[in-house]
Amino acid sequence: MNKILVIDNDSAFLMAIKETLEYNRYSVVTLSNPVQAQSVLAGQTFDCVLLDVAMPGINGLEVLERMVREQPLLPVIMVSGESTISIAVEAIHRGAYDFLEKPIETKRLLITIKKAIEKKSWAIEKNISSALKKVWSDIKQLAVSNAKVLITGETGTGKELVARALHHNSERSGRRFETLNCASIPSELMESELFGHVKGSFSGAIRDHTGKFEIADGGTLFLDEIGDMDYRLQAKMLRVLQEGEFEKIGSNKSVRVDVRIISATNKNLRALIDEGRFREDLYHRINVFEINIPPLRHRKDDIRPLAEYFLAEWAQTYNKKLIRFSPQALQILQEYDWPGNVRELKNVIHKIAVFATETTISASNVLRALENNPQRFSRETPSMLLKDKVAMLEQEHIGNVLAATGGKLNKTAEILGIDRTTLFKKMKKYGIEKEVPNPPDDATS
Ligand SMILES: Nc1ncnc2c1ncn2[C@@H]1O[C@H](COP(=O)(O)OP(=O)(O)OP(=O)(O)O)[C@@H](O)[C@H]1O
Ligand SMILES: [Mg+2]
Repeated sequence: MNKILVIDNDSAFLMAIKETLEYNRYSVVTLSNPVQAQSVLAGQTFDCVLLDVAMPGINGLEVLERMVREQPLLPVIMVSGESTISIAVEAIHRGAYDFLEKPIETKRLLITIKKAIEKKSWAIEKNISSALKKVWSDIKQLAVSNAKVLITGETGTGKELVARALHHNSERSGRRFETLNCASIPSELMESELFGHVKGSFSGAIRDHTGKFEIADGGTLFLDEIGDMDYRLQAKMLRVLQEGEFEKIGSNKSVRVDVRIISATNKNLRALIDEGRFREDLYHRINVFEINIPPLRHRKDDIRPLAEYFLAEWAQTYNKKLIRFSPQALQILQEYDWPGNVRELKNVIHKIAVFATETTISASNVLRALENNPQRFSRETPSMLLKDKVAMLEQEHIGNVLAATGGKLNKTAEILGIDRTTLFKKMKKYGIEKEVPNPPDDATS
């Protein structure tokens, strides 16, 4: 359940908004005194904030600026009265996600919040690879149409994220997004899950059941792992897709629905067709457009922005100040092959965040987090020169020993088994400060 913080001095407004949002299955915290915003935000994690621009005694823009600075991933939607629209517009320049004008129309409120939260789940900041930019422009273009889209890509590349983005950016965003995982449900139950059944239609059918097609009417049905769909069921699917109607199990009444189909698979459907396990006619039906998400190892430019995004996210979850990756740490992240793609990266950064004690993530933090992963270091990028690797380890080791001795040079030199002059030279070469290498807290960018 997504959690929303609403800040406004008008308590009647707060009550109304709370009721509306809770009715739409959001969890809501209201605050009539913006001065408390900071402590509330520090203690709990929110998915979105609604913030009044004009509150007596405090400048909404200042509250906004602090939020943007402290929680750059948190979308803030400004709420303004008629007379304060110009301030709301100014707020967008200062990092607000959007603004809503009072009185707020419910439909617009819900859509704006949904989009804000959707955006939050994407690391789409600058610096993403051209491959991901292409995926995004495809989403934007295909979202507005009703076309069936097949999303392909290895496990963990973000197929479900793309499916949701297609829905939330479409005109259907106010309606249901239903997911059916074709691999996880036994094929006998699958048919009923899709089309529903009437009471008594088979033993065990003790009451009527509404299928996903009907539930998703007006919205989107996401068929995940479609490559695993039972062959016999594929024929029934084909008929619904062609005719837009079906019968519930045990009924001969046709049901008409308006559902957009998005499917995803990490299998090679072409190969399944050749093996006679996937119907070619169904393939052409679901694959009007294909969005292919390349594996992470083929879009290494995305590793850094994603890693930084996840670090910020987990830091927020654990209330830690984790600021950056050391260049060596990033290097290792980039050399690794990521067989589990973005999901694996996210999990690794999670582990790093849990164990990190310093604000800068070091190479050894990363190696430790990768310890139990399949250890596939890329053969595609030429590996590092030996001297660079040695220098990398040397730099890190010196930094660690300096930190351990509290920056005492004599002691450090002694431990390292080198003389002070050599230590000085190396520190200069690597740009290591005399102080323990612990960056100031505000060194964010
Ligand atoms: N560009 C991205 N920005 C932020 N998070 C991402 C991005 N791409 C993927 N993720 C995250 O990676 C994880 C895996 O994504 P998702 O579940 O969409 O992958 P999938 O392709 O459906 O995987 P599978 O084939 O295993 O079902 C999710 O936690 C998702 O939020
Ligand atoms: Mg998936």
